[in-house]
This record gives sequence, C-alpha cells and structure tokens, in this order.
Amino acid sequence: MFKVFVAHPIPKSGLQMLSGLQVDVNDQPGPLAKTDMISRAKDAHAIISFLSDKIDKEVLAACPNLKIISNYAVGVDNVDLSAAAERGVIVTNTPDVLTEAVAEHTIALMLAAGRRVVEADRFMRAGRYKMWEADLFLGKQFKGSVLGILGCGRIGTRVAEIASLGFGMEIIYYDARRNPEIEKHLGAKFVDQADLVGQADVLSIHVPLTESTRHLVDAAKFSQMKPDAILVNTSRGSIIDEAALVEALRNKTIAAAGLDVFENEPNMAPGLAELDNVVVTPHIASATVTARDDMARLAAQAVLDVAAGRTPAHVIAK
Ligand code: GLV
Ligand code: GLV
Repeated sequence: MFKVFVAHPIPKSGLQMLSGLQVDVNDQPGPLAKTDMISRAKDAHAIISFLSDKIDKEVLAACPNLKIISNYAVGVDNVDLSAAAERGVIVTNTPDVLTEAVAEHTIALMLAAGRRVVEADRFMRAGRYKMWEADLFLGKQFKGSVLGILGCGRIGTRVAEIASLGFGMEIIYYDARRNPEIEKHLGAKFVDQADLVGQADVLSIHVPLTESTRHLVDAAKFSQMKPDAILVNTSRGSIIDEAALVEALRNKTIAAAGLDVFENEPNMAPGLAELDNVVVTPHIASATVTARDDMARLAAQAVLDVAAGRTPAHVIAK
C-alpha cells in the first residue's frame, strides 16, 4: 500500500483525493520537529510538506521508501533539491493556482504601506483623530509611479499587469531572463539591477530563494533606493537582509515596506515591530479559499500520479 505522510492539515479538497491510499495526517498544531517528521514519515512513499518543514539530507536518508515530496507551496527552498535528486526522490510544487492570490496580496501590501492604512487605523482606534488636516497621513500616489519588479515570473508578471492596467504605473523589471510578453503588453522596460533599485518608486520582490538570491536586497541596495521608495516582499524573507531593512526604515533611507515573509519565520528581526512605516502579515499571500483548495488538489494529484507510476505535472528539476 502506498503510504502518504501529510505533515500538516491541508484542505479537504486534497485529502479526499487520497482516500485510496494509506494516509497519515499530522494534525498537531504548531511546527513539526525534525525528529517527529522522521518518526512519522520513515516508512512513507510520499510526504506532503509545508514550507516550514525542512526536508534535508537527514530526513531524506531516514525515509528510504520515499518517492515524492509534494510541497504545498510554490517555493521549494525548504527542500534540499540536490539530496532529493541524488536519491531519485521527485519534488513537486503548486504553481499557477496561487499566482492571482499572491499578486493581489502584493498589491494590498503596496497600497497599505503607501497609503499608511495600518498606521492610520491605529491612530483612529487610539482616538487621536481630532481634526481634518492638509498633511494628515500623506502617502504616495501610484498612478505614474515606477514599479520595479525583481523577478518577473508568473507572480511578478501578474503584479505588473494589475499595477499597469489598474493603476497606470510604469513598469521596469529585472530577471535573469527577458520577458517579451510584458515588454509588449505593458511597455515594461528591462533594466539592470542597479537601475531597478535606483529608479523604482515601489520595489516588489518575486524571485525564488536560492543561494544566489539570499540577501540580494541588502544595505548597499537600500542606499541606492529613492528616499520615498516602498519595498514589498511576498517571496521569501531571506532575499532581504532584514537587519539592514530595519536600519533603512528607521533612518528613512527608504519610506516604507510591506512584508509578508521574514528571514526567521515566525520571528521578525529585532526592531521591525516597533516601526510605523512597515506593514506586516504572517505569510498569507496565497491564503485565499480558492488558492488553498487548488493547491491541495495539485499537491494530492502529484502524489496520486507518482503512486500510479505517472510523472506529475510540476516536477522541480535539479
Ligand atoms: C508560499 O510562500 C509558497 O511558496 O507557496
Ligand atoms: C512563481 O510562481 C513565479 O513564477 O513567480
């Protein structure tokens, strides 16, 4: 019997699809310690994992029957892809179905940070609104502002579309690959990293976390940004040097940030929470009912495919 360890509860839409297999779902709340992952998954042929589950050499070595790691996420930086490849373990992710949700949340953070929505909400609740004033909570107008997209894959492209077609923002982007589609449809301009950082009024990050993107946005980049720029991150926290970001926000090297992801989740860098010019959400960019149901179906389908000897749709190559 094909055994599946589901490391955390996922929506029923996915679990129901697995009813013909032997499924063990960990329904303990909270993070799963590596030792518990190993003791629960050691006989499994498949693991459905979260981005908070570190699937490293040790876990892979302890699960000799493993054929597939079906990661319930688009990012796969929690999995040691080389070690999985060496053992012939397939790694899959859940792309496309969450693109819209993540792009929409990116826009939500951009608006919230640029129009100071959370800060203003706190001000109202504290009873501090005494009088209409010409300069009360001045923020950024997005029409005509420059949106810099760092990493123009599916999500970056969708953010660019919403910002361009909806808000009339100018789009510049950097990616290892040119994206002729958005150049044609949105008039987006391909620029190098220095120009991206220097010209953006809003810089939005959409690269995956790899060794080459870790701390890609660091103190040097902050010093090149416009002082009224807004940084938005819905990819992975470690793309940003978070300690440098705290400094940049505190010293007003940049104006504001909207962050859904953090270097050491669930923790924030010391000092971040005390700053008014940052809006933070707990890694919920893909958290719409639609996206999470579809992610569950995709994650389950990948397991079913491998159980039936088929190649799943979204295999991560290494
Ligand atoms: C969430 O961050 C994901 O990678 O799906
Ligand atoms: C991830 O889905 C991306 O390509 O942005």
